Amino acid sequence: MALIHGGRLTEASRRYGIAPGDWLDLSTGIAPWSYPVPEVPIHVWARLPEADDGLSAAAAEYYGVAAANITALPGSQFAIRELPWAVAAPSGPARVGVPAVGYAEHARAWAAAGHAVVAYDDLAQLLALVDTLDHAVVISPNNPTGEQAAIDTLIVLADKLARRDGLLLVDAAFADCHGELAMDGLPANTIVLRSLGKFFGLAGLRLGFMMGRGPAIAAVGAQLQPWGVSHPARWIGRRALLDLDWQAEQQRRIADGAHSLTTLLDAYFSRQRIVTMGLFVTVFFDDAEQATAVHEALADQAVLTRLGDNRRWLRFGLPGDAPAATRLVTALDVVVEQGRC
Ligand SMILES: Cc1ncc(COP(=O)(O)O)c(C=O)c1O
Repeated sequence: MALIHGGRLTEASRRYGIAPGDWLDLSTGIAPWSYPVPEVPIHVWARLPEADDGLSAAAAEYYGVAAANITALPGSQFAIRELPWAVAAPSGPARVGVPAVGYAEHARAWAAAGHAVVAYDDLAQLLALVDTLDHAVVISPNNPTGEQAAIDTLIVLADKLARRDGLLLVDAAFADCHGELAMDGLPANTIVLRSLGKFFGLAGLRLGFMMGRGPAIAAVGAQLQPWGVSHPARWIGRRALLDLDWQAEQQRRIADGAHSLTTLLDAYFSRQRIVTMGLFVTVFFDDAEQATAVHEALADQAVLTRLGDNRRWLRFGLPGDAPAATRLVTALDVVVEQGRC
């Protein structure tokens, strides 16, 4: 069964009878300001990509990792799906710690490969049970809870897992706005995933990276088709990773946007816990009915948010510009008039 993700505008259109172009889509954590993709030369479309095209060097520079330890992927999702199959379990299925609330593809992928998923609530709980696990997944920052792992915590976790030949998978798809998460300081049994989808606003490009070394990395790499990342994706990705001026501007835009959105949502949901994570703000509700009611009331007004699978949280992506922010305010005012927040 397909998992529910944000950004499903066609589905929302059918469900609410609102044309795709009429929505304010706040249901994803993808930056509303995409990297301005330059015109891609015809030879890039026409020719197959080559490994020494400078993409790995650009990624090495941006992520602070040796180029030899970086593998380009058609989105970090590729490694999320493939890694559980690449992890040999010498004595049957492995026990794998996965956040109870987080990007749900992780739990699904480990379970699909026959492993036992052990859900944990937060990093404190993971630290308490890591000695009973074979592998662990940490999403940092976590989407949607915003929890971030300090490098020291990751090192402790990886060292404990290493005693059982286990892996620590760090999904850092949202880490661009949160300082360094360089692999070089992490133990060798750590694999870090990065994405060009979120911070660069290029989710449709399907470009991400896997960082680390060792047999599991090699096994996932072996599943990549020759030319598994398209030549245009590599060409555009390299430019985005090297464009320091645009990145600095994007950091500023995201910080300002997150601040404004948090202030706004605080005013409407003062009784709820609110977590700000740069590219999105999550409101946690005690009452599943209230979260659902707010989500539905906003959707009726063509404002799409992401309702948690447990219906206890609502995630808002950044509106992107003043008219979009005004539209959100107008929609929230209607929700208040209806007595739903
Ligand atoms: C936490 C997290 N990791 C990874 C992904 C996959 O991203 P991509 O395959 O576009 O790199 C997502 C997508 O929403 C995500 O939320």
